[in-house]
Amino acid sequence: MQRLLVTGGAGFIGSNFVHYVLSHTDHHVTVLDKLTYAGNLESLKGLPGQRFRFIKGDIADAPLVDELVSSADAVVHYAAESHNDNSLHNPRPFLDTNIIGTYTLIEAARKHGTRFHHISTDEVYGDLELDDPVRFTEQTPYNPSSPYSSTKAGSDLLVRAWVRSFGLQATISNCSNNYGPYQHVEKFIPRQITNVIDGVRPKLYGKGENVRDWIHADDHSSAVLTILEKGRIGETYLIGADGEKDNKSVVELILKAMGQPADAYDHVVDRPGHDLRYAIDSTKLRKELGWQPQYQDFEAGLEATAQWYRDNEAWWRPQKAETEAKYKEQGQ
Ligand code: NAD
Ligand code: DAU
Repeated sequence: MQRLLVTGGAGFIGSNFVHYVLSHTDHHVTVLDKLTYAGNLESLKGLPGQRFRFIKGDIADAPLVDELVSSADAVVHYAAESHNDNSLHNPRPFLDTNIIGTYTLIEAARKHGTRFHHISTDEVYGDLELDDPVRFTEQTPYNPSSPYSSTKAGSDLLVRAWVRSFGLQATISNCSNNYGPYQHVEKFIPRQITNVIDGVRPKLYGKGENVRDWIHADDHSSAVLTILEKGRIGETYLIGADGEKDNKSVVELILKAMGQPADAYDHVVDRPGHDLRYAIDSTKLRKELGWQPQYQDFEAGLEATAQWYRDNEAWWRPQKAETEAKYKEQGQ
């Protein structure tokens, strides 16, 4: 049994990880989460009280972080400002949380000799051409495009430097785009599903030719647990499930899953600096640590996700109007 401190555990991927860990291991979990607009305690309902506790707080609060890290066997660091569009309008919170927050955590982990796993994104590598035969690997040079991805890149580099200079017991993973339950309605897939539920046409940025490499959140969780258990200290592992799809195809699949005509969507203003394509080569994780994704059928996963949003309107409804009002101001 391990005592895990999970930062950002009330967010999308963090909450999926907490559910996954509590049902697949006997670990105890403490979640540290600030409950920003993206955090939702409803995502952590029904967890076993003897093995789970929630602490509301900021990862940049050094005394609180020091106390929590001192009583953990490992830290799994998900907390972040995570949305590219928000970072283009107000970058400051991205610096505070993604850079200073990560710095605060690794200082505590170094002081207490605590195992640390840093969650990051494929966006640190920039983007690829649509016809580029090469995918991102652990050797791809960093080339982030947005305030969000540049602060994630900065946080990765801090962790790498702390490993080399101070012997921090850390691993890093960079994952592709996740989908599944508990994702905030600002993000692409839940935004379109909940638009269709509301009788509103999905909104595609630009031409919709941008490609994302989709992975189910449960596959991300199993990969992180595998790295935590078997990963080599100081190493980076890329996580991906060979799920490349252009945005137009994803919208068409959502419309199909929800019984709407395939062309019932609108093109809207493109995102400035919009990355064209992400694609992950996860050979290292698969060969070295024996990990395999379980969700191979994207269309079935998308149908199940659409059904989850239909069944859980009380979870997302409170965020929907405010999120759409923000997009409307930006012509999106
Ligand atoms: P999210 O926005 O849904 O959740 C972020 C969580 O962090 C929220 O619960 C929020 O309240 C919390 N948080 C924010 N600032 C905090 C602070 N200062 N102190 C404590 N808690 C704070 O994000 P997500 O999509 O679940 O992403 C989680 C992590 O995974 C991020 O590090 C992100 O970069 C990474 N990631 C995301 C994806 C994806 O597709 N969503 C893919 C790869 C990597
Ligand atoms: O690649 C991993 C990253 O995936 C994570 O690091 C980020 O935290 C996560 O938010 C996600 O970033 P993206 O910018 O790729 O995700 P988003 O859901 O915002 O958009 C996915 C694609 O869909 C992108 O090409 C922009 C487009 N899009 C998005 C929205 C919200 C639309 O066409 N219409 C929309 O309404």
